[in-house]
Amino acid sequence: MSTERLSSLMDRELTLEFARVTESAAIACGRWWGRGDKNAADGAAVGAMRSMFDTVNIDGTVVIGEGEMDEAPMLYIGEKVGRGNNVQVDVAVDPLEGTNLVAKGLTGAISVLAVAPRHCLLHAPDMYMEKIAAGPAAVGKISLDAPVAENVRAVAKSLNKSVEDVTVVVLDRERHEHIIEELRRIGARIKLITDGDVSPAVATCIPGSGVDMMIGIGGAPEGVLAAAALRCTGGEFQGRLWPVNEQQKERAHKLGVTDLKKILTLDDLVKGEDVIFAATGVTDGDFLKGVRYYGNHVTTHTVVMRGVSGTIRFLEARHRIDKKSQYV
Ligand code: FBP
Repeated sequence: MSTERLSSLMDRELTLEFARVTESAAIACGRWWGRGDKNAADGAAVGAMRSMFDTVNIDGTVVIGEGEMDEAPMLYIGEKVGRGNNVQVDVAVDPLEGTNLVAKGLTGAISVLAVAPRHCLLHAPDMYMEKIAAGPAAVGKISLDAPVAENVRAVAKSLNKSVEDVTVVVLDRERHEHIIEELRRIGARIKLITDGDVSPAVATCIPGSGVDMMIGIGGAPEGVLAAAALRCTGGEFQGRLWPVNEQQKERAHKLGVTDLKKILTLDDLVKGEDVIFAATGVTDGDFLKGVRYYGNHVTTHTVVMRGVSGTIRFLEARHRIDKKSQYV
């Protein structure tokens, strides 16, 4: 497969196809809003996403998915997706990023995927990753190795703002207490979230989202998904695997990460610019509206990005339920 061929297919056809895939997952799981059943919500998203993939002209291999083959019935790592042709791609999915958010009716849940030529996405195992994300103005100015305050000051300077005007998103976890303390000490604005760190990482690159920086430890697979978006938007993203036991250290090793102190740059996480990212809001978030149900129709809000061109498209769609039985 040549990259040229893939990029031309991405250009004309695949972006919209991938938007359909995340739309379909979001519509399915959005119905579980506030019902207290995160597994049912996740299951609905997975089933819908899996079926929609069957309509897409790719020869895809899931590299980030719902788990290993024996753990997940669908979208497991290694599973083939797509109708198959010569376009061999790596597929990273999170059919419902923020299962608790949907179960509790909270903001910020999305359905998300990223696709790149084969072997171009880091096959990040299910473990933690330290992450930092900021918009294009901060490229080359922040580092996971730098103190939190230094990074915030750098972001502030890059945006021509004062530190008091910089909004930093942090997952509300005990492990982040020192980060939160430091942010409060320097007077930055903090948005604590209960789940879902892909969306705020992407939001750092969306003008008007109100998010300037995202920092903290979250899932490594989610890190790769966020990196794919920041590849397209030209933002800054760094990650560092954060294994918590020997087994995870071994997995990191197998992945080629022998130095656990190594900062993974965008190039390590997503090789090249030939990548597509798509996300549909499930519940309202910083830059995507959630799914709305109106009896005979449903509306969705999706962002699709393509690294090669740098185009970012927002799609608002109205789906007729009476014409599409899968959305009932
Ligand atoms: P779900 O898998 O339930 O959707 O949760 C996603 C998430 O909140 C990610 O956004 C985040 O990276 C990770 O979980 C944080 O993990 P933990 O809840 O163990 O702190």
